[in-house]
Amino acid sequence: MKILGVDIGGSGIKGAVVDTKTGELVSERVRIETPQPATPEAVAETLKKLIEQLGYSGPVGCGFPATVHHGVAFTAANIDSSWINTPVEKLFTEITGNNCYVLNDADAAGIAEMAFGEGRNVQGVVMMITIGTGLGSAIFVNGNLLPNCELGHLILKDDIAEHYCSDAARQRLELSWGKWGKRFNKYLHRLEFLFNPDLIILGGGASKSFEKYADKIDVRARVTPAKTLNTAGIIGAAMYAENMIAQTQKTCSKPVAAKSKSESAGNGEQTKDKTASAKSKKVKPAKN
Ligand code: BGC
Repeated sequence: MKILGVDIGGSGIKGAVVDTKTGELVSERVRIETPQPATPEAVAETLKKLIEQLGYSGPVGCGFPATVHHGVAFTAANIDSSWINTPVEKLFTEITGNNCYVLNDADAAGIAEMAFGEGRNVQGVVMMITIGTGLGSAIFVNGNLLPNCELGHLILKDDIAEHYCSDAARQRLELSWGKWGKRFNKYLHRLEFLFNPDLIILGGGASKSFEKYADKIDVRARVTPAKTLNTAGIIGAAMYAENMIAQTQKTCSKPVAAKSKSESAGNGEQTKDKTASAKSKKVKPAKN
């Protein structure tokens, strides 16, 4: 399928139409500056502009820099705090007039790398760490994703890990690649101690400069920059949309007589929405 994938970041919103079978971009890659302040409405309008610029109409997959449970954002570490409890999927769908499917940005990048990049055919535990304004993380066990793990928020050296060794921290503290690499290596050791991954794939801005700090990394696991580099988020988002469409079709094609009691309260989508909004009322904003 050819689906628009979008990577929503703190500084830019990037998108392209993706051939989900091959992982190739089949349109130009468009980037629009993220509006400031990046409020839900302003970002949704920018997404609409991006879709129009590509002359696209159809389903849209969006990677988003926060935890996203059933289409609702629950955290806002590096984005405007007004996103917390925002039904992102619903908002984007309403404003753009296209069905939007939203997931965490690091999960999206990981999905792409597992299908077309370094994680392809890799069994065991694979971690994807994206190094940008924050530290994004995704864990795969035998190719299956554990969604929304927030390992950039581990405490390291009395600090939140992403404050200590994200790419934004490197720039803010004006660290050389070597000095920053030593910090990042500490982070990887912490992850290795906790999760024992077989492979760690690095994505995001700092993964492009991997050779400048590779000599500082000495964890046991193999560490490698992502093959799909800065298009991973776009490709993975499109793949997620395709997957969600397939799941919805499966749910909708179930014969009515076969429905269980709980299902008969509504179709899969409605049940999902209820769960999400019920959950969203209870959740407290993330502090970091
Ligand atoms: C957020 C994650 C996100 C990462 C990369 C972190 O601050 O908490 O959800 O994946 O930044 O954007």
